[in-house]
Amino acid sequence: MDSNINISYNKKMESKLNDSNPDEMAQEIRILETERCFLRPPSVDDHDEVWTAAHHEANITKGMLWDPPKTKEEMNDWTERSVSGWKQGNNLSWTIENKNTKEFLGRIVIRQQENMKNTWYMGYWIHPEQEGKGYTTEAAKAVRDAGFKIMKIDTLISSHADWNIGSGRVLAKIGMRHTGHNPKGFIKHGKNVPEEEYKMTYDEWLHLNR
Ligand SMILES: CC(C)(COP(=O)(O)OP(=O)(O)OC[C@H]1O[C@@H](n2cnc3c(N)ncnc32)[C@H](O)[C@@H]1OP(=O)(O)O)[C@@H](O)C(=O)NCCC(=O)NCCS
Repeated sequence: MDSNINISYNKKMESKLNDSNPDEMAQEIRILETERCFLRPPSVDDHDEVWTAAHHEANITKGMLWDPPKTKEEMNDWTERSVSGWKQGNNLSWTIENKNTKEFLGRIVIRQQENMKNTWYMGYWIHPEQEGKGYTTEAAKAVRDAGFKIMKIDTLISSHADWNIGSGRVLAKIGMRHTGHNPKGFIKHGKNVPEEEYKMTYDEWLHLNR
């Protein structure tokens, strides 16, 4: 694979792969390491950075379902939901941080999709001051590889608002296939935001570097 991900698992873990359940598997990928970053579960310690990122003039939430938090307490709910997602093993989110300085860089998540066999949706955002440095691409490769290699997911999907060129580049750079334009997309503030949709199957992942 083309990412230099260092997943914290070992031979014993590998032998468990076939008889582990997905929740146990999720616990094995709580910490991911890339060339420049650690990916680790979100924490209350991130709240100041999440707040400044979300309220930045770059308006980063424009292309995502959520809005900037109105109160600091709102972020506690998000962090609790993240803890619960890890416990249930169906909604796995990470804070991306600089490996050396521990600086907060952004967030990335994969969510299991209902009624779609072992299919997971990936979403991400980076602090506006950290944009354009390749961090999202690096983190997305690590999550892609952890998903297919450890979680044994069948399919990874993602999408972005049709105007969100940067997000499309991230998905193309990690080898995801553009599957089409969805004019209904997602609903933001009562309006449809048309989206571009992407996919990668397990077989496509296996063939990435062949
Ligand atoms: C989209 C986003 C995640 C990109 O993150 P990033 O860390 O800057 O991405 P990378 O540095 O890994 O760059 C990926 C590619 O996108 C390109 N790119 C990034 N922003 C771009 C923009 N606004 N317009 C055109 N290309 C852009 C980069 O040049 C790079 O391509 P290249 O290597 O061919 O030059 C980031 O801008 C962001 O968080 N936006 C707000 C939240 C959001 O929209 N999330 C996605 C929801 S679907």
